[in-house]
Amino acid sequence: MQQLLSVQDLEVSFANRRVLRQVSFSLAPGETLGIVGESGSGKSVTALAIMGLLSWPGRVTGGQILWHDDDLLSLPPDAHRRLRGSAMAMIFQEPMTCLNPVYTVGQQIAEVLMLHRGMNKREAAEAAAAYLAQVGIAEPKARLRNFPHELSGGMRQRVMIAMALAGEPELLIADEPTTALDVTVQAQILDLLQRLQAETGMAMILITHDLGLVAENAARGIVMYAGEVVETGGVDELFVSPAHPYTQGLLRSLPRWGEQRDVLYSIPGTVPRNLETIPGCAFADRCPVATEACQEPQIMRQVGPAQTARCWAAKAKQPILEGGAAECQPPTK
Ligand SMILES: Nc1ncnc2c1ncn2[C@@H]1O[C@H](COP(=O)(O)OP(=O)(O)OP(=O)(O)O)[C@@H](O)[C@H]1O
Ligand SMILES: [Mg+2]
Repeated sequence: MQQLLSVQDLEVSFANRRVLRQVSFSLAPGETLGIVGESGSGKSVTALAIMGLLSWPGRVTGGQILWHDDDLLSLPPDAHRRLRGSAMAMIFQEPMTCLNPVYTVGQQIAEVLMLHRGMNKREAAEAAAAYLAQVGIAEPKARLRNFPHELSGGMRQRVMIAMALAGEPELLIADEPTTALDVTVQAQILDLLQRLQAETGMAMILITHDLGLVAENAARGIVMYAGEVVETGGVDELFVSPAHPYTQGLLRSLPRWGEQRDVLYSIPGTVPRNLETIPGCAFADRCPVATEACQEPQIMRQVGPAQTARCWAAKAKQPILEGGAAECQPPTK
């Protein structure tokens, strides 16, 4: 199938510090992909690179980002800007990152409609109210006159989603869209995103550090660690038979329903900051099954029909898991 987005060997550096290396994945039209990983693993930088929103001194230093058949990295900045807000849109954890405090909600949604959809002022005002209604905001006409600070966190999140939808995007990137919200509102926003996706057919990249959200909302996931993709697969594969010791550790650190544990498992150690000093696997110093082979650069290996992992041990997944890697398997009781 023709891919909507294809990221190939993407590399991003901030000044001389490389923060992404060999990031590759693709997304079909209408598909939902989850990107999961600890803080600092490169999830947002990947999204910002796709959107062309990396701020100096951040820049793409290698690889390709194909949008349909166009290489986004060789598009003139103007053309990339036109795609942003129309073909592709992004929503953030904190709505105030993209809402302007000095304009009303109505003015901000209308601006997208006039800029990207060529509507006049009156058409845009009417359509803006319809978008607010679509994202579940009551009395949308009255809300158009509100400034962002007059709305609750959940309402602001809905407004940001309405603004994103106003450009009729083929891809919506949601970067931790619900982390700042309480659990009930969180569930409402995720339900809303799923409903809108079904209605509009847009593809979605859901970025989160919560494996549970990926399991519930995405068909496929990629796991990032220290600026690299360490595992990819369908959510069933990632959750039932994770191949990379890091994914296994992440799963093991999830609380389990009905399980009595005084202390939750946490992966020992911290994410390395400087990729340049690590020629081999970036997870090796935290990995319970690391050997000398991990000091060598690791390639992505096919470990299942639709599952890949960046770990030499994953090549022979079964024998390794039956041996030392059983240590980092999710507990069975
Ligand atoms: N503006 C910046 N200047 C310098 N380094 C940056 C900048 N933004 C991100 N980085 C670095 O890039 C790396 C990846 O950061 P990124 O924000 O993508 O992580 P993340 O996976 O989104 O984490 P979180 O879950 O905390 O949002 C980190 O090491 C971070 O320090
Ligand atoms: Mg982030």
